[in-house]
Amino acid sequence: MSTPDSNKTVSHRFSPTFSWGVATSAYQIEGAAQEGGRGASIWDTFSHTPGKIIDGSTGDVACDHYHRYAEDVDLIAALNVDAYRFSISWPRVQPAGSGAWNETGFDFYSHLIARLTEKNIKVHITLYHWDLPQALQDNGGWLNRDTTVYFAEYAAEVARRFGNRVATIATHNEPWCTSVLGHGTGQFAPGMADPDAAVQVSHHLLLSHGLAIQAMRVVNSGARLGIVLNQWTATPATDSLQDIEMAKIEYAKSVQWYMDPIFKGRYPELALQNINRDALIIFDNDFNDIRQPIDFLGVNYYTRVVCSAATPKVTPPGKLGFSDMGWEIYPQGLTDLLVGLHQEYDLPPICITENGIAVADRMEHGAIDDRQRISYIDMHLDAIAAAVDQGVQVDAYFYWSLMDNFEWNSGYAKRFGLIFVDYATQQRTMKASALWYRAMIANSRAGS
Ligand code: FCB
Repeated sequence: MSTPDSNKTVSHRFSPTFSWGVATSAYQIEGAAQEGGRGASIWDTFSHTPGKIIDGSTGDVACDHYHRYAEDVDLIAALNVDAYRFSISWPRVQPAGSGAWNETGFDFYSHLIARLTEKNIKVHITLYHWDLPQALQDNGGWLNRDTTVYFAEYAAEVARRFGNRVATIATHNEPWCTSVLGHGTGQFAPGMADPDAAVQVSHHLLLSHGLAIQAMRVVNSGARLGIVLNQWTATPATDSLQDIEMAKIEYAKSVQWYMDPIFKGRYPELALQNINRDALIIFDNDFNDIRQPIDFLGVNYYTRVVCSAATPKVTPPGKLGFSDMGWEIYPQGLTDLLVGLHQEYDLPPICITENGIAVADRMEHGAIDDRQRISYIDMHLDAIAAAVDQGVQVDAYFYWSLMDNFEWNSGYAKRFGLIFVDYATQQRTMKASALWYRAMIANSRAGS
């Protein structure tokens, strides 16, 4: 495979003011799980439960970012990016998820923001990247409607403290994952396998988003507010009417299930027809609360889904190959997705808040030649540029991830980073993709 040249048309694809970033999340990198007054989260409980994480690992130490954040910010700056997206660990700043704030936890994020700002890197915060305080889970977690109120209080406190120091605040990261993987299939924390519960949780997540946006508007000064959704296109496996219908249902239950309440104030009818509607409790005013204007929409895109009425799990064609996660590489899906959203909804500016690939990276003679990752990024930037050409407003791209980290139930076995992490020594090494990304950004800014 040839490596795309960072000088080629890449640079012409985006305006010189386009924002380039990298992303991480708290539980995946911070470690220091029991330090600085942090409370337990559902991911601590889940990862410590035998059999839940493929390699038996936990996020107790992860990339030790809590202690190495200064060095990590220097690495971010060395990548030449102008934006960094990270999440705040709710139990680090409010150990029980309600009640007392933990000043040591807020200090950590305050120092991190200060260091990023010193280096001219814009700060993009996510409030909830899956690490619910365990104390709230003990009272029912996202199945308990009270959690939506606690979340709004937490959001307001973060916005009050940091709103004038950060570029954006997103409420949730990928509520679909919290709902379906956390409560429907049990692959993620808290490990519940109950499809009805998953639907109710999705409603509470959306409600908590709307309540948090409203609470943050009261105290916030400056930060743009939004949400981050994981999205994909759904392709029918064949031209049969049944497969086409399956694909429509899949799209309705994943993408539209979150977009419609936020932008249209209702759930998509096709999805409602395909869930146990009786199990879903919605209060009268809920859609008014959920349908709040947002200043940006974060889209995470990795792959598409192929749907068949005959087989629940279809292996997609994979003409461009698969990632180390087994996910099909399908950049065209990103163009199709963005153009489709633009046609269907009245959208705020879009940030691609995640896009990336796991590669079975190996360090050889001190270097990591991850050309599959370079090619993945390059193709997806082309795909975004094609959507921009068709009128979609995209302002920013964040590569997932800054560095290799704890990949949820895959543990440390899957590597998504631009930077290689040797977990035994915590040594960080820039992969070939990091050097390529840096050069590509420089060319893009120069408009060359
Ligand atoms: C997304 C998550 C992120 C990371 C990537 C690979 O679903 O938001 O934390 O795990 O997938």
